[in-house]
Amino acid sequence: MNIINLENITRVYQVGSEEVHALDGVSLKIDRNEYVAIMGPSGSGKSTLMNIVGCLDTPTGGQYVLKGTDVSDMSDNQLAEVRNREIGFVFQTFNLLPRATSFHNVELPLIYAGVPAAERRQKAEQALASVGLKDRMLHKPNELSGGQRQRVAVARALVVGPSIILADEPTGNLDSRTGEDIMTLFHEIYKLGNTIILVTHEEYIANHAKRVIRLLDGKVESDKQVADHTVPKREN
Ligand SMILES: Nc1ncnc2c1ncn2[C@@H]1O[C@H](COP(=O)(O)OP(=O)(O)OP(=O)(O)O)[C@@H](O)[C@H]1O
Ligand SMILES: [Mg+2]
Repeated sequence: MNIINLENITRVYQVGSEEVHALDGVSLKIDRNEYVAIMGPSGSGKSTLMNIVGCLDTPTGGQYVLKGTDVSDMSDNQLAEVRNREIGFVFQTFNLLPRATSFHNVELPLIYAGVPAAERRQKAEQALASVGLKDRMLHKPNELSGGQRQRVAVARALVVGPSIILADEPTGNLDSRTGEDIMTLFHEIYKLGNTIILVTHEEYIANHAKRVIRLLDGKVESDKQVADHTVPKREN
């Protein structure tokens, strides 16, 4: 079943008197439990697409149906609700609260979702354990390595139990070995039945996905299955 159905999506930014066509008629169907990499040159519309798929932004034209619900014309409040329930985000720059512990960073989406304290504690601890950071719960971001920070961000994305994980250059600020650890984590999340969409500039990162979509000037340039995708060694 398609969980993401984009039909002729456009996103036009008005900058002064000029129009920027960041997305120019993108149609895509993504199934449950797909693993997709989005590639393309800088400015081709990758982040714009991720923001729309993740309900952080709405398209200027076209239709976006997420799990059978048309979200293209939803209000900001409605979008926020869908987003909190369905989507986990991971960003290149981690986007953690600098003064808060790992535990609190991961707990935050549950506070927004109105989850009671005892349940929050249990879920946040479990999410941190699942990314191997049980012993770093009380560290603040500046007391963690880059890879550990990104793992906290992955735990934060997972804690509400979303079905779709969106990651915009999640390994962009990490060295290749640490990046590989994060990719192992994504592989595990994918194996649990989630849908993963990640943006990357690196072919070896994209090769972990089963499908690679390339954008050019706001259009889909190619959309291909990866025949021999990389499976992390530590798989189990
Ligand atoms: N808020 C905005 N206002 C105006 N133009 C924007 C805005 N955000 C993006 N754009 C423009 O839309 C186009 C697509 O931007 P986008 O950020 O989606 O590119 P990208 O593929 O993610 O690039 P990168 O690889 O550099 O992250 C670019 O030409 C950009 O300048
Ligand atoms: Mg971008």
